[in-house]
Amino acid sequence: APTDEDIRAIVAPMTSLEGPLLPMLHALQDEYGVIPDIAVPVLADVLNLSRAEVHGVISFYHDFRKSPAGKHILKICRAEACQSMGGEALAESTLARLGIDWHDTTQNGAVTVEPVYCLGMCACAPAAMLDDRVIARLDRARMDKLLDEAGA
Ligand code: FES
Repeated sequence: APTDEDIRAIVAPMTSLEGPLLPMLHALQDEYGVIPDIAVPVLADVLNLSRAEVHGVISFYHDFRKSPAGKHILKICRAEACQSMGGEALAESTLARLGIDWHDTTQNGAVTVEPVYCLGMCACAPAAMLDDRVIARLDRARMDKLLDEAGA
């Protein structure tokens, strides 16, 4: 696990940036895959913020994780064209099948589900993305296949 000094070493070059907190968090997540707990008091100290303020920013931006992402990332489109083609119901049934909420990871660590806002596949809605692969014209059956494939 990273130490206080490790965290300081990573964020030190960014202290003179304007709005340094987000770049610092990105750098930490790139390094560790998560925002380590110990980073919160260190960032609060370095930036003269309260811990609550640092926590607030981490939880506001869903890009940042407190726990490691799953082996696969499933991004389900929640933008308008997909919604109008049943995307929301598909998302709900997917989350229900996995027993998780948005941004969560299945218990076996196989899949993390994230919302995404348009994948440029509106004409073939509803769409989703499993890792680097975009899948369009989704329905329950195709989604089930994807989830099986991902080991969810
Ligand atoms: Fe879903 Fe564009 S709205 S792909």
